[in-house]
Amino acid sequence: MLSKLPGLAILLVIGLALMISFGVAQEASAIKLLAPQLNSGKLLMQALKERQSMRNFSEKPLALPALSNLLWAANGINRPESGKRTAPTAMNRQEIDVYVVLPEGIYLYDPKEHVLKIIASGDFRKLCGRQDFVAKAPVNLIYVADYAKMGSIEDETKKFYAATDAGFVAQNVYLFCASEGLACVVRGMVDRDALAKAMRLKPDHNIILAHTIGYPAE
Ligand SMILES: Cc1cc2nc3c(=O)[nH]c(=O)nc-3n(C[C@H](O)[C@H](O)[C@H](O)COP(=O)(O)O)c2cc1C
Repeated sequence: MLSKLPGLAILLVIGLALMISFGVAQEASAIKLLAPQLNSGKLLMQALKERQSMRNFSEKPLALPALSNLLWAANGINRPESGKRTAPTAMNRQEIDVYVVLPEGIYLYDPKEHVLKIIASGDFRKLCGRQDFVAKAPVNLIYVADYAKMGSIEDETKKFYAATDAGFVAQNVYLFCASEGLACVVRGMVDRDALAKAMRLKPDHNIILAHTIGYPAE
């Protein structure tokens, strides 16, 4: 069939195919996560025994099943009928968003679609914290509170609830990592202004904590 196309049309088709493939190589795109595997991991009591902060990471990327389970454990929807999540929030405001900083870009976890939406292409890991391991570990989660979702309570109360609610997400991640033999450390030391700019956050969005995750260094 190709032989019947005029030469110019063939060149155009080849050119278009090349442009598309280069475009895909340069720009990170959304990542469709896998359904959570509910029968994996250690018993809760064993995970509690092993929960700890670790700061020596392998640079190996996190496999998609592990990344998918991690995000669902962090703050996924565990009761689809009500849309409620693995982590509680004050007055069920669900104000904590989990951003995911991977070597290829910054993503926002969408728990309804169980997908990572692309926010920015490129390696922004250096902005996630000043400790050396942060820029090398394969995953940094950033817990962001959207104050606009918290109604008309006082700012001090918003701050208190947002910090508490992010803490629950962080503990889910700690337990998931302990259960799966992953290394992680939650971090308050973050240059919030620089990171917020890269993440294109709105004024109502406040970075609460960062959490570095990966396979333990060998
Ligand atoms: C709110 C909060 C902020 C933290 N910030 C940092 C941090 O910026 N850098 C870091 O290396 N560890 C940080 N940590 C981890 C603590 O240092 C760690 O939890 C503590 O030393 C106890 O160790 P464990 O988690 O192994 O029990 C933070 C922990 C919490 C709860």
